[in-house]
Amino acid sequence: MNIERKEFLNLVGISIGAIILQNCMSGCSKTSDPTPAVVSPITPVPPTTGGTTIVSGFTGNNLLSKGVIDFSVDITKSDFEILKTNGNALVSGDVIIARTKTGNFLVVEKACTHQGTTVDFVSDNSTFKCPNHGSIFNSSGGVTNGPAAKALKSYSVAFDTAKNILKVI
Ligand code: FES
Repeated sequence: MNIERKEFLNLVGISIGAIILQNCMSGCSKTSDPTPAVVSPITPVPPTTGGTTIVSGFTGNNLLSKGVIDFSVDITKSDFEILKTNGNALVSGDVIIARTKTGNFLVVEKACTHQGTTVDFVSDNSTFKCPNHGSIFNSSGGVTNGPAAKALKSYSVAFDTAKNILKVI
């Protein structure tokens, strides 16, 4: 009985030692792989009723089903004011408007070319990442990581700093 008890205590001691060692090793290991900041775009008020845009600060067309993408947004208006801050992004119709950490604007189609999921903006490196299967697109919409094989369409932008109007074509 005493031998069994000794063996038991030895085993318990070894187990506890192993747990402490494992915790120390995982707790003491250094990770140099910080998770990049991923910004899931917000979506302003649903944009259209019968083809008429009702979002404040928006004029033009942001829906592929209605023809050529061509619109302007006033980033001082409440629906778009998050774009006053670098690193933010929002969805407007069929596109995602992102503002890089350095203040530039990027506009690409929102739907991942793999299966259509709305992409997120990764502000740390100005890329777009699909939360569904992980495709990554560069700031111009080009594929840098599959499974998507086709680029996101990107749109030209012009920002009037005096009026705070972003034009997208
Ligand atoms: S839907 Fe985007 S990677 Fe599959």
